[in-house]
Amino acid sequence: MKAAITCVAGYVPEDLLTNDDLSKMVDTSDEWIKTRTGISERHILKDPTKATSDMGAEAVKALCEKRGIDPSEIDVLITATVTPDMLFPSTSNLIAHKIGATKSWGFDLSAACSGFLFALTTASQFVANGTYKKVVVVGADKMSSIVDYTDRTTCVLFGDGAGAVLLEPSEAENGIIDHIHHCDGGGAEFLCMKAGGSLNPASHETVDAKQHFVFQDGKPVFKAAVTGMADVSYEIMQRNGLKGKDVAWLVPHQANLRIIDATQRRMGVDPEKVMINIQNYGNTTAATIPLCLRDWESQLKKGDNIILAAFGGGFTWGSMYLKWAY
Ligand code: UT7
Repeated sequence: MKAAITCVAGYVPEDLLTNDDLSKMVDTSDEWIKTRTGISERHILKDPTKATSDMGAEAVKALCEKRGIDPSEIDVLITATVTPDMLFPSTSNLIAHKIGATKSWGFDLSAACSGFLFALTTASQFVANGTYKKVVVVGADKMSSIVDYTDRTTCVLFGDGAGAVLLEPSEAENGIIDHIHHCDGGGAEFLCMKAGGSLNPASHETVDAKQHFVFQDGKPVFKAAVTGMADVSYEIMQRNGLKGKDVAWLVPHQANLRIIDATQRRMGVDPEKVMINIQNYGNTTAATIPLCLRDWESQLKKGDNIILAAFGGGFTWGSMYLKWAY
C-alpha cells in the first residue's frame, strides 16, 4: 500500500509587501531583488494577534471542505514550521483545537525549508503501513515574526503562508514512491536563529544583539543549496529510472530563482515543467511546496511523475518522487 496526496489547500494573508515597499525601508531596489532572487512581492500576516497556527488552521479548514470530510475524521496532523506560535504546545495541537480535529494527535517537525518534505515522508509511513487512513501534513511559517526589517540581506527574502495536504491510502501504483533526505548540522552556523532556545535563552542582551531574528550568511548557503538540491533531485531520478522527459512537474522549494534554475538544468527537465511562484510569495519556508501544489493543482493529472525538492537551514535537504493520484 502507498500513501497518496488526495487533496491540497493553502492560505496566504491578504497584506502585500512589495519590493518597492522594501526599498523605502532599507537600501535595496526592485531590480536587485528581482535579478538576485526572482521575488517581486510577499504576503505578510500583519494582525499581531494572529500566528502560524491561524494560517495553518485556514489551510486545513479549506482542505477538509474541499475533500468533504469533517476535521474530526483526521487521525494525525503534523506541522512543519520554524515559527511555532510558542515553543510548546505544538502548533499542530493549536491547529487541531482551532479546527475541531478532536480525534487527531500530532506534533511539529523542525527542518526549516525542508520541513514539509520531511513531514510528508514521516506522515506517509503511518498511511503506507496501514495504521491510519487520514493524515494531514501542514507546512506553515510566519517568517515576518523572525525577520529583521532593517537587514536588507534577509528581509527581502521571506514571506508568510501555509499549505496543507491530505494523505490517504492508495492501493494503485499512484502515491509516494521514494525519497532521499539529508541533514548536515555543520550548516547551522550559516543559517540559524541564534537565541530563544536552551543555548541562548531570551535576555536583554540577546534582544539587543538582534539574535531572535533569522541569521543568514547567504553565499555559503547559496553554494550548498545549488549543489544539494540539484544533486538529490538528479539522484532520485536515476534511482527510479526517470529521464527529464518522464518528469511531468518539478516542485522545488522557493528560496531563490537561481537555485531552482540550477536544479532544473541538472535534471534535464523543461523549464515550463517547473512550478515557480516565488515572485508572488517569496520564501515561505515550510509552505513553499504545498503552496505550489495548490497553485498548480488544476493542471496535475493522475499518474503524473512529480519530483519535490528542497534545501534549507540546518542544513537539511531532500527530494521525493511521487505519482499524482487524482
Ligand atoms: O531557504 C533557505 C535556504 N536559503 C537559501 O537558499 C538562500 C541562499 N542564498 C541566496 O539566495 C543569496 O545568497 C542571497 C539572495 C541571499 C544573496 O544573493 P548574492 O548574489 O549571494 O548576494 P551577496 O550576498 O553576495 O551580496 C552581493 C552584494 C553585497 O554588496 P557588496 O558587498 O558586493 O558591496 C551585498 O551587501 O549585494 C548586497 N546586497 C544587497 N543589495 C541590495 C545584499 N542584499 C541586498 C539587497 N539589496 N537586499
